[in-house]
Amino acid sequence: MPLVSMRQLLDEAAKGGYGVGAFNVNDMEQIQAIMEAAKETRSPVIIQASRGARQFAQDRYLYHLILAASELYPEIPIAMHQDHGNSFETCKSAIELGFTSVMMDGSLKADGKTPSTFEENVEVTRKVVDFAHERGITVEGEIGVLGGVEDGHGAGGSGLDHITDPDQAVEFAERTGVDALAIAIGTSHGAYKFTKKPDGSVLKMDVLIAIHKRLPNTHLVMHGSSSVPKDLQEIVNQYGGKLKETWGVPVEEIQLGIRNGVRKINVDTDNRLAITGAIRKVLWESPEKFDPRDYMKPAREAMQKVVATRMTQFGQAGHAGDYKPVSIAEIAKGYKDGSLSTRPLVAAK
Ligand code: G3H
Ligand code: 13P
Ligand code: ZN
Repeated sequence: MPLVSMRQLLDEAAKGGYGVGAFNVNDMEQIQAIMEAAKETRSPVIIQASRGARQFAQDRYLYHLILAASELYPEIPIAMHQDHGNSFETCKSAIELGFTSVMMDGSLKADGKTPSTFEENVEVTRKVVDFAHERGITVEGEIGVLGGVEDGHGAGGSGLDHITDPDQAVEFAERTGVDALAIAIGTSHGAYKFTKKPDGSVLKMDVLIAIHKRLPNTHLVMHGSSSVPKDLQEIVNQYGGKLKETWGVPVEEIQLGIRNGVRKINVDTDNRLAITGAIRKVLWESPEKFDPRDYMKPAREAMQKVVATRMTQFGQAGHAGDYKPVSIAEIAKGYKDGSLSTRPLVAAK
């Protein structure tokens, strides 16, 4: 199956009332793990690459690896997404490379660290939307700022520092025409999100629900949504790792989000933990081993297990065969003639 538009994938998810995991990749084994999990659970997938991933793997490698996945798994709809684009140029280069979806994270300035103003965010996101939609490419924007720093990206600080204001979310969606909207509800990137099991004082599901009430047709996106399971933390630490005690986003909170308009759920850290734990275990138990396949294979299997579990929990499992891919050219036509709406439905307060 050709790579599909993320908009199509999310519109279908909205119809079916489920969420779609967006899993970060940096190498072939991670792509293989996601695709095997998708095959096992018959799930549509979003494969996403950060700027750091594009640098690490090199653009052409990444693109061709994901293209290989689409050839090898013709029954699986795959959207290829730029995670946390920091500028118009980053998004443009992703689109020119063949990504079918981009995130313009205008919540931060182009340095990827400093929170931007609302007007700056609207301006750069709108520019990306104009460029992308003309080419049939999906755009995710972000309003509010997540906590934490990953690979130099992020404002740092707590997830509570810049929670999304629902009124601003409405204005942002109206003025930019984004296809999907990432909001800040207290989560952070990375392993250290919460110091105890999160309750409503730190994980603001009430804000998410308030935004969904105002924007009932807008696809919401939850970033920083790894659950950081205890068993994965324990494996890492059991075999020489030094993770501090930490809590992630409970799956049942994500499921509450999915019942309230969340269609895309970003997960990276859980897979990093699964991979690292599996590699540590092999090297700890068999220090004589030096063939990378001896530890990369269990690492890939550990990630596949996490991804398949999330696909089932998010509800995307079983939906791979629900629809035929619409070509990117058709999607572009839809944006142009207005059949693919970019004007959000806004409900009264
Ligand atoms: O946005 C965060 C993702 O986990 C990607 O992280 O920028 O370290 O590749 P990265
Ligand atoms: P986690 O660090 O919680 O996996 O979040 C990943 C993410 O939001 C990628 O954009
Ligand atoms: Zn993110």
